[in-house]
Amino acid sequence: MSVDAIVGAQWGDEGKGRVVDYLAQDCDMVIRYQGGDNAGHTVINEYGKFALHILPSGIFNPRTICLVGAGTVVNFDTMEEELRSVEAAGVATDNLFVDKRAHLIMPFHCMLDGAEEASKKKGWEVGTTKRGIGPVYADKASRVGIRAVDILDPERLRTRLEMLMPRKNRELAYFGIEEITVDQMMELCASWKEKFGSRIIDSVPVLRDAVIGGKNVLFEGQLGIMRDLDWGIYPYTTSSNPTAGGVCSGAGISPRRIDSIYGVVKAYSTSVGGGPFTVELFDDDGERLRSIGGEFGATTGRPRRCGWFDGVAAAYSCWINGFTHIAVTKLDVLDHFDTLKICTGYDVNGEIIDYVPETALQEIATPIYEEWEGWKSDTTAIRSWDDLPEQAKRYLRRIEELTGAPIKFVSVGPERDQIIVID
Ligand code: GDP
Ligand code: IMO
Ligand code: MG
Repeated sequence: MSVDAIVGAQWGDEGKGRVVDYLAQDCDMVIRYQGGDNAGHTVINEYGKFALHILPSGIFNPRTICLVGAGTVVNFDTMEEELRSVEAAGVATDNLFVDKRAHLIMPFHCMLDGAEEASKKKGWEVGTTKRGIGPVYADKASRVGIRAVDILDPERLRTRLEMLMPRKNRELAYFGIEEITVDQMMELCASWKEKFGSRIIDSVPVLRDAVIGGKNVLFEGQLGIMRDLDWGIYPYTTSSNPTAGGVCSGAGISPRRIDSIYGVVKAYSTSVGGGPFTVELFDDDGERLRSIGGEFGATTGRPRRCGWFDGVAAAYSCWINGFTHIAVTKLDVLDHFDTLKICTGYDVNGEIIDYVPETALQEIATPIYEEWEGWKSDTTAIRSWDDLPEQAKRYLRRIEELTGAPIKFVSVGPERDQIIVID
């Protein structure tokens, strides 16, 4: 009935997992379209609390087919750990499949990720999750990568590894890391084939039949636009396209088939990792956003950098992604503030701009703020727009106005039912 995308509208960790888990209650298929196990999508529901890394957040609904799409990169070892953890909570995982075209994260990708980061000049670190994301996408772009389909055919796999490993070993040697043999990788892939072979499929006919058959399909993004390889704060980005355009290339769907694009927007800003973050706060307000919002990485546990809502970044995000709606999350975190601020412009060398400039200019930009009165009351039990405090409604309407897309959902807590749906 509906083919929708859920896309991170800021720097990641906006609450995409929570929104997908909510919508997946009535969904036939959820597809992760890019990224790998660098994701940390927190889901809290009747099964418990989970930080999902590569499993789509629809995994809790046994009627939902969960696809790890062609545009993703997969580490079968961490996928196995994740499957064990959700299965231990009583979740059936028979509906999980991986597209044949997905590239595989091998142990050397993770080693190279860590080594490359360590070799950067101070201040130039991306602050990656060290999950091998940059190196595996680099191999993909260089057309030397190993794909899920390759492990199904040992002869083909060996040939590809024989071409790849001398090159990878030269890179490892450069960083003083011990050589890895083709045989070691063959053995690893054989164990992956045994465990995951039956889950490796061609997702094209599956998705096509679902779309033509009028099913509810969700595309789940990883990270957010500000760390998109092309539209984010390069070089402090990830190596894929979290933006709505990435849905089409990553999941294999025409833009004409997508009905709605939901931008997930945190009611304030957070970022984890290196690079500019214009609205970053270094004061008590930043500390309070972090402690009240529990702003610590779901994958790495790192404290997230915090700031007020950035209307400039939100408008940029809405333009590039073409949001039809937004889902505003973590409104309840602001329940405790007397005054709130919203960034409406950047001052770059004395010039006031209302668009996101290139990275180097973001580094020197300072935010222009407007102030909003807080509501100082508990919103966590509110389930209808009308019951929200007037100040909260005004704050949300301002977010909507600056972003440029209507609010469809307001999340007021991390639990599945702590959500307000707006008609
Ligand atoms: P994702 O990567 O976009 O899925 O987001 P994360 O899971 O990394 O970060 C969002 C965090 O906020 C998680 O700890 C969620 O449990 C939590 N969360 C999501 N929505 C809300 C909300 O409306 N209120 C509060 N207080 N927490 C929320
Ligand atoms: P979700 O899906 C927040 C950040 C890292 C680093 C940069 C590149 O939970 O929103 P990578 O490991 O991809 O090479 O790191 O991107 N990063 C994230 N930040 N949420 C994430 O995922 C992230 N995944 C990567 O901190 O700066
Ligand atoms: Mg996250």
